[in-house]
Parts: sequence; structure tokens; C-alpha cells
Amino acid sequence: MSESRKQDHIELTFKSQTSESQNYGLVYEPMLTGISETPDISVNIAGKRLEAPLWVSSMTGGTEKAKFINKNLALAAGKAKIGMGLGSCRSLLDSNDRLEDFNVRQFIGDSPLFANLGIAQVEELIEQNQVFKIQEMLKTVEADGLIVHVNPLQEYMQPEGDRYSKSPLETIKRLIDTLNAPIIVKEVGQGMGPSSLLELCKLPLAAVEFAAFGGTNFTKIEQARHDAFKSGKKTLLLDFTANGHGASEMVGWVNSILKKEEVNCKTFIISGGIKSMVHGHSLRERLNADSAIGMASVYLQKALVDQNAVDELISEQIEALRLAKMLLKRSPFEND
Ligand SMILES: Cc1cc2nc3c(=O)[nH]c(=O)nc-3n(C[C@H](O)[C@H](O)[C@H](O)COP(=O)(O)O)c2cc1C
Repeated sequence: MSESRKQDHIELTFKSQTSESQNYGLVYEPMLTGISETPDISVNIAGKRLEAPLWVSSMTGGTEKAKFINKNLALAAGKAKIGMGLGSCRSLLDSNDRLEDFNVRQFIGDSPLFANLGIAQVEELIEQNQVFKIQEMLKTVEADGLIVHVNPLQEYMQPEGDRYSKSPLETIKRLIDTLNAPIIVKEVGQGMGPSSLLELCKLPLAAVEFAAFGGTNFTKIEQARHDAFKSGKKTLLLDFTANGHGASEMVGWVNSILKKEEVNCKTFIISGGIKSMVHGHSLRERLNADSAIGMASVYLQKALVDQNAVDELISEQIEALRLAKMLLKRSPFEND
């Protein structure tokens, strides 16, 4: 056994070279802890405990495959006791025809489950004095609260996209005044700049989800759909697919905001382009606030297979996060 291991080492040496370290700004501290521990990595989000700082970012509903995907995601999230956002629940506002796509409370158990609507629907419902429809929808899907997605670039590029006339901030403030439920606000993959973050942080939100630039890009997806619909792609608008802010940049801004301003929201879901747990852990370590790591496409890929595939991925993620917590730290000299 030992001989074959030694042989493996010789053969694998040349395939196992590294170039630069990928510490994402953290320092590797091998001297400080044993590695047989299972450190506590739980965190509170929106008043509920997550056993691991992981969040299934909002995805689908209203399609053939949605029920299968959401069931797989919810079962796995329930088992691991992590949180989940549903995809846009717009179709449930006026009918329960698609309810089975979203009816996953039975699978996720007591883990946090948030419904989801776009800012345009929220603005419309407020204008029509129909916020009660959101309240009813939350009750129907037994959600812990509502995620509002604000995605002006995607809507603009979408052939059948929504328009809204008020600033999302104004709409969100009015929603906070009228909806009796925790609210999370997110983008959908472009992230957002420091002034948007500052204004959101001033509000009593349950969390802000970054949905940062660097992963799935809906502006690109909608541009591709323009092609499909032959509705005339506007080449000059393609430039906008490169506009946005990555999670690392956003962590820096939130830290500045937390230092300088009186804020009411100090919980964040760091998401958008997070593919590795070392990356996610480094962003959490740098952020001076409670946070979870959110992922959409990474979970989607596994949910399209089966629940087992999602389970296996989450177990591995938890193992990686525990190891990262033991060995990868913020430098004590960071601010020197
Ligand atoms: C198939 C799919 C559908 C999505 N639908 C929604 C949605 O309905 N509402 C929403 O807030 N975000 C939606 N998103 C955006 C994700 O929540 C997330 O912000 C974005 O994909 C970036 O994360 P990622 O890089 O980990 O994929 C969707 C993402 C995917 C992949």
C-alpha cells in the first residue's frame, strides 16, 4: 500500500504543479488548529439558523422542469438545513395553476424559504393597492418572506421585458411599509454599485443579496433570446453585458458603508459567480457582517440530474467550508 502510494506520488508530481496561490486575499495558517475538528459554520439569516452558510439562489418556476428542479433543490436544502429562494412567483399572483412548481415547503422543512417577485410587479401591485396579493402568495407557498429582484438591464434587453417608472428604492420603501413579512432585495447577476448598496443598507431589510457580476448573466441570456425571436438584436446594447460589479468589489463597499453609516440591514447573501468554497469563504471572511454564500447555476446543474447530486455537492461544500474555516484566515496585518 505504502509502496504504491509512494509510486503514485512520483507519477503525479508533474501533474500537480501550482503556479500562484489562490488564497483570494486570505492567509493560510497551518499552525493554529488540528484538522479533525468539525467547526461550527452555522449562521443566522432572516431570523433562522442555517447549519452551513449556504443559500440556493432564486431560480425557476412556471416551466415543465421547474417542479423537478425545485423539489430536488428543496429536499437537499432541507436535509442540509440551508436556505433557498424560489424563482419568480409572478404566476401565483392571479392563479394557482403553477402552484406545484413552487410548493416545496413540504420538502424543505423548517429551513428558510423565500418567495420571489420582480420590482415591476411590486410597483404595479402597490399602485393598484393589491399588496394583499403578495401576502396571500406568501401564505400559499408557506414562505418566510419575499425576495424582490431588481434587474433593469435584463428587463430592458428582454423582448417581452417589463418597464417601471418609479425608482426601485421608492417602491421597496413603500413595500416595507405595507407588507408584513421579511424582505430581501437582489439583482440577478450584474451586482450593484455603492450608492444602491448604501441606500438598501439603510432600510430594515432581512438581507441584501449581491447577485453580483461574474457568473450567470441575464443581460447576455436576453440578448441571445433576441436572436432566437428574430426581433432584431441591437449590437450596440451588447456593451451593457459587461457592466456590473463583482462580489469582491461589493464586499469592499459594504465594509465602507458599515464603517461610516448608520445602517439597518447587516445581513448579506454573497452571490453571483461564486463557484468555489474557498472563494466564497474568503468573501465572507472579508465582509464585516453576517453572510451566507448564494449560488444559482452551480446548484441548477446538479438539480437537473437528481436530488442525490445536489446532496453530494452540498456535503462537499460543507466539508470545504469547515476546512477553510480552520485554515484560511484574514491576515492580522491587513489594516497595517
Ligand atoms: C435558470 C435561472 C433562473 C433564474 N430566475 C431568477 C428569478 O426568477 N428571480 C431572481 O431573483 N433571480 C433569478 N435568477 C438569478 C439567480 O438568482 C442569480 O442571481 C444569478 O444566476 C447569479 O448567480 P450564479 O452566478 O450563481 O448563477 C435565475 C438564475 C438562473 C440560472
